[in-house]
Amino acid sequence: MRKTPETVVLIDCGCAFVQKIARAVRDRNIYTMVMPGGTPVERVLAENPVGIVLISGEDAAKNAEYRAKFAATKLPLFTAAKIEDADAIVNFCVNSCDCHKLWKLENFIDEAVADIRAQVGDQTVVLGLSGGVDSSVTAALIHRAIGDRLTCVFVNHGLLRKNEPEMVQQVFARNFNMKLVYIDASDRFLDKLAGVGDPEKKRKIIGKEFIDVFAEAAEKSHAPFLGQGTIYPDILESIPFDGNPKGVIKSHHNVGGLPENLKFKLVEPLERLFKDEVRKVGRLLGLPSELLDRHPFPGPSLGVRHVGPIDRKTLRILREADAIVTDELLKSGWYHKTWQTFAVFVPVRSVGMKNHQRTYDYVIAIRSINTVDAVTAEVVQLPWELLFTMSQRIINEVDGVNRVVYDITQKPPGTIEWE
Ligand code: XMP
Repeated sequence: MRKTPETVVLIDCGCAFVQKIARAVRDRNIYTMVMPGGTPVERVLAENPVGIVLISGEDAAKNAEYRAKFAATKLPLFTAAKIEDADAIVNFCVNSCDCHKLWKLENFIDEAVADIRAQVGDQTVVLGLSGGVDSSVTAALIHRAIGDRLTCVFVNHGLLRKNEPEMVQQVFARNFNMKLVYIDASDRFLDKLAGVGDPEKKRKIIGKEFIDVFAEAAEKSHAPFLGQGTIYPDILESIPFDGNPKGVIKSHHNVGGLPENLKFKLVEPLERLFKDEVRKVGRLLGLPSELLDRHPFPGPSLGVRHVGPIDRKTLRILREADAIVTDELLKSGWYHKTWQTFAVFVPVRSVGMKNHQRTYDYVIAIRSINTVDAVTAEVVQLPWELLFTMSQRIINEVDGVNRVVYDITQKPPGTIEWE
């Protein structure tokens, strides 16, 4: 077990921003954990907290019930209700709980490396590397701990963005010198997807094939351990508010759906970190910003941005258009001002003109949104000149497109992805 210093437990009495408060206090070098009000007292005490902070919700009766329950622990107790109370919480931790502000990500890395070595011993770990932040940082951390006893498996399902397979291989195999099994399963996926237009069926095919391909490779590695990029919000989100104690310990499964007969023991070194802490750890481990600061990208990848049946020709159109959108966003400085901005392939053909010739080509939609939690999202008002440049470039550089439109639908009623 990790010897995390001086834990303060925040009890969530039904407050929407409890995670934000927990992060704000961690930023001040005090390690916090979030547990729902219904968590049994013994489960909270098992973390050896030096103090408890109740984060009040709107239900006064629940607040009072939880206050009474945790007052009985005799640990220092404090009640807070707003994100602005973070300063008061820090003062409480220092003055009443005698916290020494020891929580630092540099220390976290040393502890995590020691924990991984202790857990894995002289055995091996296999890890599914997607190129996303969580799996990348997990790979870098496990690699630091056990070197080439880690095997990363990167599955190219044919729906990746332009240059993505090359970038992942460059960073992990060449720069970090990791053992990386690269599986180009594009044909297998695209053959299975041929002619399938229903969004849910497409998602199911991609999900199932992915698990099959990964499971095959993982089995071949003969590793008893599976590295997973589970992070703290994954765990918190899997805990019901009334605090099922089993949920507090573990009810998530990131890879989800791996066959039962693959009996891996899990290595999840990031399971106590929030997303921004994961990025900081990634930076400390030397991962490039190009990888750590990317927009979120859905598991089924371009598959959910290509409306209707996917064929190789129209997928190429989407990939090229998406690369132009990203390129212009980066050049204009707008990339980091938006949560997600991307191209969507719309399987509608319309009449246009190119080089004095009539065209009958497809539509690309551009979508750009900002959000805090992806539950609701606002359309970003990208500058007109930027949209115009993207449109011009897509039409001039991507064969098969003669019309570009801007999606101005909020979420709700729209979703962020088109499928
Ligand atoms: P929607 O389209 O539901 O998307 O508004 C909300 C957020 O979730 C991402 N997303 C996914 N991420 N696997 C993922 O890992 C998926 O199947 C998936 N579908 C949507 C989407 O990009 C957005 O950030």
